[in-house]
Amino acid sequence: MRHPAARRMRRAGPGCMHPGLHTLDMAITADQVSYEDLYARWEAGNWRATGIDLSVDRDQWENTFTEFERRAALWTYSMFFHGEDAVADNLSPYIDAAPREEQKYFLATQQADEARHAVLFGRFMREVAGHGQDMDSSLEATRPGLTWGFRKVFERLDRMADELRRDRSRTKLAQAIALYHLVIEAELAQPGQHFIDESLTRRDLLPGFREGIRNVSRDEQRHIAFGVKMIADLIREDPDCVAAIEELLREVLPFTSAVFVPPDWDERYVTVIGFTLQDIYTHGADALDARLRAAGIDPLTLRTGLPFDLPAPERARRGLALPLAAAAQDPSQRQRADAGPGGKAVRIAVCSVRRSKAADLGITSYKRSSCPAPCSRARASPARRWSV
Ligand SMILES: [Fe+2]
Ligand SMILES: [Fe+2]
Repeated sequence: MRHPAARRMRRAGPGCMHPGLHTLDMAITADQVSYEDLYARWEAGNWRATGIDLSVDRDQWENTFTEFERRAALWTYSMFFHGEDAVADNLSPYIDAAPREEQKYFLATQQADEARHAVLFGRFMREVAGHGQDMDSSLEATRPGLTWGFRKVFERLDRMADELRRDRSRTKLAQAIALYHLVIEAELAQPGQHFIDESLTRRDLLPGFREGIRNVSRDEQRHIAFGVKMIADLIREDPDCVAAIEELLREVLPFTSAVFVPPDWDERYVTVIGFTLQDIYTHGADALDARLRAAGIDPLTLRTGLPFDLPAPERARRGLALPLAAAAQDPSQRQRADAGPGGKAVRIAVCSVRRSKAADLGITSYKRSSCPAPCSRARASPARRWSV
């Protein structure tokens, strides 16, 4: 008899742009997802990265894209290519550390997915963009485009995999899942995939790659749902997991704000696809908040120094201001960064320190009127339902 999840996938049909997405996107909690259901979704949603026709893509890349559009697309897609390669390589210790068989089996399917995603991006780099002859040479050819923030996040993932090989405790596993499934997949990758798909669809470009990205996006939705469920279960079994996740977020979130910083802060690398950096950062800020809540963690109680009580667009503005301030040694960016004494970046830094101190004292309802200007101007987030 067919599994309920497989039946839902069949009902979605081939005409559905994201079969299965709508069912996982509903406002559901981790308790409403089962490992068996997620596994069945994987079986029902399998696809072939080597079966996608990229011949039209190749023609459009050479004859429709402008020189700058090619450069901007290559910058963005290179991060996805290296990201997929890194997550495929680093998932094995997660399988070993997972306490339940159903969790190990799902993670094994995820590792196959990540390899398939890397193969898709590798094919794009070779067959469409003309970079490299095999995976290794394509990775090497596209490495120079990786941002500082990207390299820091993925160096942390490499170290996390090593730590998990030595320490299979629930707290370490919770940290590892938070980094992989919530930060890298939900906060960083999924918004990027969404904007790539939207922009290519709007202009009806790269049909093969677009088909692949949609499949990748559907897989990632399943991976993120698994991560949310896994974290909820780990916290139930060991409440110390919340503090472990808090420590990880405090360490890694400053790096994530620098991942999508374009070369020379030239925002055309993003606006050329019809969106702004603010759009991407807002989507990411919202996604992380929603996934933490779906896993049973109230972000307002976390001592990360981040203003989770403020709306996602305001958190995104702050996330962008800090790496811009770091770039302010470049005279061309100094005025834009507003990083001088009393400037926006300094006020945000002061605000973060005050928030951390308030959280240390157990003050969860932070008094915004005591904060520097950018904080007191922003209004708190309205109540909303959170989804996996
Ligand atoms: Fe992936
Ligand atoms: Fe994934």
